[in-house]
Amino acid sequence: MSGGEKLGSHILERLRFYEELGVKWARKGVAPPSNPSRGPARGRPAAGSSQASRPASSVYHEARTMFDSLPEKQETLQAIREDLGDCQRCKLAPSRKNIVFGSGNPRAELMFVGEAPGADEDDQGLPFVGRAGQLLTKIIEAMGMKREDVYICNILKCRPPGNRNPEPTEIASCEPFLFRQIASVKPKVICALGTFGAQTLLRTKEPISKLRGHFIDYRGAKLMATFHPAYLLRNPNEKRRVWEDVQKIRDYLKSLRDS
Ligand code: URA
Repeated sequence: MSGGEKLGSHILERLRFYEELGVKWARKGVAPPSNPSRGPARGRPAAGSSQASRPASSVYHEARTMFDSLPEKQETLQAIREDLGDCQRCKLAPSRKNIVFGSGNPRAELMFVGEAPGADEDDQGLPFVGRAGQLLTKIIEAMGMKREDVYICNILKCRPPGNRNPEPTEIASCEPFLFRQIASVKPKVICALGTFGAQTLLRTKEPISKLRGHFIDYRGAKLMATFHPAYLLRNPNEKRRVWEDVQKIRDYLKSLRDS
């Protein structure tokens, strides 16, 4: 295959991916990106989700006040990681291979928060490196960003055995470190991936189908919940909804840069 043919097939592959995400170039006022690797992404808005943001309700009060106990001085991620150390604070410690602290730009405008490491992440000590992670990388690229631009972490830093759901005591031990990471990075937008990420951050039991699709004020940032990439692997039809959600993030970040 010649260089030109290779490039052509690479572009076609990328366009097929956008199509799979439900991306339409023909939307009013939206031109195809000149570089197809910097195009857009996807998701489904709940009722009323067209609003750019909605006021935080009392449901979110507890989540916001948790930040009040954070150190006043902005900590570095490295200091937080050192404090986490060889963590033995919960019962996940004996079965983990590696602590998965988080990775990416320590000054990211956009932070993704998932649930907990899976087997691949536990092996490598890095978040979202398995199949779901590869899909997350594609979503980030479809937003016109690079994975290194954003910061990625999880509610839990250690893998629950057999990928079972995180337990409340595990979340309670681990989340102070997540909140310190958020305070350190100071993202403009936090994208909570899936039920666990969203419900834990927002201190609510509302289903992800209700939480996703609209911005929620969250300690000086905007929080957008969307479906977890692992859920998308099982339910590819929902990719379009995630695309809608991350487009809102992309457009909001752009509006901040333009203002
Ligand atoms: N799922 C998550 O929630 N986090 C990861 O890091 C990987 C898969």
